[in-house]
Amino acid sequence: MPKDTLTITDNRTGKTYEVPVENGCIRTNALRQIKVGDDDFGLMGYDPAFLNTANCKSAITFIDGDKGILEYRGYPIEQLAEKSSYLEVAYLLLNGELPTPKELEQFVHLVTHHTFVHENVKSFMDGFRYDAHPMSMLGSTVAALSSFYPDAKNTKDELSRRIQITRLIAKMPTLAAFSYRHTMGLPYIYPDNDLSYVANFLAMVKRIGTTTYKVHPVLERALDVLFILHADHEQNCSTTSVRTVGSSEVDPYSAVTAGIGALYGPLHGGANEAVLRMLREIGHVSKVPDFIKSVKSGEGEKKLMGFGHRVYKSYDPRAKVIKRVADEVFEVTGKNPLLELAVELERIALQDEYFVKRKLYPNVDFYSGLIYEAMGFQAEMFPVLFAIPRTVGWCAQWEEMVLDSEQKIARPRQIYTGQKRRDYVAMDKRAAK
Ligand code: ACO
Repeated sequence: MPKDTLTITDNRTGKTYEVPVENGCIRTNALRQIKVGDDDFGLMGYDPAFLNTANCKSAITFIDGDKGILEYRGYPIEQLAEKSSYLEVAYLLLNGELPTPKELEQFVHLVTHHTFVHENVKSFMDGFRYDAHPMSMLGSTVAALSSFYPDAKNTKDELSRRIQITRLIAKMPTLAAFSYRHTMGLPYIYPDNDLSYVANFLAMVKRIGTTTYKVHPVLERALDVLFILHADHEQNCSTTSVRTVGSSEVDPYSAVTAGIGALYGPLHGGANEAVLRMLREIGHVSKVPDFIKSVKSGEGEKKLMGFGHRVYKSYDPRAKVIKRVADEVFEVTGKNPLLELAVELERIALQDEYFVKRKLYPNVDFYSGLIYEAMGFQAEMFPVLFAIPRTVGWCAQWEEMVLDSEQKIARPRQIYTGQKRRDYVAMDKRAAK
């Protein structure tokens, strides 16, 4: 009868150990019993960048990277993108089940009525330089929210957690729109509770000199779908940051700020901004082969931005949906001139041995920037447009972590490679270099 265990023989000592296998994992803490002597600390796992280490058990999002499958609470992303709304998905991620009509109505009402921010938040944002990057403004302002809601410290209190989560989801579009208006030198527009989550955001961004600005329904739905696609993605860099910072039992505004910081990087949520820069740099379809060549040669450490993924080793299922959304948006806005370039880049890369061998396919960020640009957003807003919907994923994962009795403060080990202990050298005894 096969056993769910792993037998390890330590060739240094000849001793054999049996450690349990659970969910396809061993607990690396079980390796600590493996020692060469009494003063040995015990065997550890070394896994820079967590390539093969599960940090938690999670019931929120499932990904099969080889098959290109993404599911929220068991529901395929394609079905959610086609049939649901962002706030319905937000409810699902937070509560585990799709809402009934009544539950959805209550949730939408709750979120809608928390969209306003304290007037001091507005003055706080005024303090940023005129050319501040909107993602820096967003991160700093979300951090500042923890000073407005000191009750957020009660992370063990369910009611308090849920109020902060509602505030975060509701206020994120307002703060994002304010960041945009600040960089454009435009007055802030207050939320309009009669509009949907997405239409309200677009109105706060776009409305100038009119109270009757109307969002095009195709663009409203397109952004709603993009928000669904970006809502969660299990233990990615920003979510891991939120969980890690949150594990110190700090308030969720501080934890989510860490997520915004991680998302800002060009290897994560900043990639769609980088894709647009890359496409502009390439400039013309005829230059695509040269660009691919320079990426492959590693010259200037160039990467094909919007390609590749730690988890997906096939087509990112979100990228497939985004391509369809792009067509719908371009029907309304006219084609983004960079689209032709992106399509050619994808075509060439997908047949190139370098990319094929490494299983590099377009990820969610390859086409999203083109859509955002067609909708009138400048590239600096792209990571912000990612942070708005990802907030619910961060919050769901944060709450799951808070409620997980197995979790403790996150604190990895290290392999020390520095100097051996030595005595302090007086200033006048140090040799000049
Ligand atoms: N262009 C060229 N080569 C690439 C790319 C790329 N976009 N991505 C990976 N590679 C190469 C690597 O150089 C490496 O080659 P090697 O085996 O010869 O050394 C190989 O493919 C494996 O790549 P890793 O860096 O090991 O993959 P990792 O899982 O660490 O990185 C990442 C994943 C960060 C997404 C990477 O593919 C990348 O930098 N992509 C471009 C940035 C991007 O689009 N990020 C958005 C990701 S989606 C998101 O965050 C929402």
